[in-house]
Amino acid sequence: MRWHGDSLDLLDQRLLPAEEHWITAEGAGGVAQCIRDMVVRGAPAIGISAAYGAALAARHAADDNWREEVSRAIEELAASRPTAVNLFWALQRITAVFEQCATLKEAATRLADEAKAIHQEDLAANLAMADHALRAMGADQPVSVLTHCNTGALATGGYGTALGVIRRLHEVELLDRVYADETRPWLQGSRLTAWELAQDGIPVTLNADGAAAAILAQGHVRWVIVGADRITANGDVANKIGTYSLAVLARHHGVGFMVVAPSSTVDMALVSGQDIPIEERDDAEVKSIRGIPLAPDGVNVYNPVFDVTPASLIDLIVTEKGVVRKPDRAGMDALFG
Ligand code: MRU
Repeated sequence: MRWHGDSLDLLDQRLLPAEEHWITAEGAGGVAQCIRDMVVRGAPAIGISAAYGAALAARHAADDNWREEVSRAIEELAASRPTAVNLFWALQRITAVFEQCATLKEAATRLADEAKAIHQEDLAANLAMADHALRAMGADQPVSVLTHCNTGALATGGYGTALGVIRRLHEVELLDRVYADETRPWLQGSRLTAWELAQDGIPVTLNADGAAAAILAQGHVRWVIVGADRITANGDVANKIGTYSLAVLARHHGVGFMVVAPSSTVDMALVSGQDIPIEERDDAEVKSIRGIPLAPDGVNVYNPVFDVTPASLIDLIVTEKGVVRKPDRAGMDALFG
């Protein structure tokens, strides 16, 4: 994303990899719509864009009604998607700053500064997580890994969470190959992850989600590495639909299962994954691709776009604050309590 002070440019992730098209959002409503429609997606990127959206609301608010206008904009942004807690975390930071502002001029400057800080801190967190993850993996020979969804620069403030770890493995010549699940139904893996990795010359093999079991059974993959949309106080993890089945597969095959996410993804207010609101999206995402039908008209569809992986199936949760091994309430409390 590109911040211009009075507008926000977002690379339209719905059109990748076929087309690199940027959308300009000039107000909070435009940013909220981009989040709802998945022009921008990925937990940290949603939070960062929402923060810029709130800053735009202050930048363009009317002098006589600015408090109401900005508050309404923050509410609209908060309603854009329900599962990734980074959205609410970022808007809470913005709200705390907003409440201290005495004038519209002050609010416009300080909300933009806060949004830029949230953006920069996320990038720094990604780099720190890559360091922690490599130390925790202790790899001394190149390894193959498998990932799900897109957790790269497109989904974050830059570099990536799970994909940041994979990027770093490649930088230090410890990556043999990354298998990328295509990630039905929205195809974040094939459209975005394969695109990002190919651009950086990182060896990637794209596979249908259903091929993951056969790939793990072959014994070459040492780690499944994924991101997260919300991590609860007991170490349960909500992430892109299909993550839970990968965790089951990893345990069955004796493969390590690592979750990489900034602390802005941790929600200590929720006791367990059962409390996480799971977004369901339009049937059309499953029934068609770009308007071409893939299923009979009128068929019943269930389209939850996230699932919850229980902490007991996770070997490592890596954040910029450090690593929780075999996560449980005590381990999470020790780092985030
Ligand atoms: O529906 P999406 O594309 O926003 O879902 C994204 C994911 O589930 C990612 O794995 C998660 O947000 C981590 S991104 C660093």
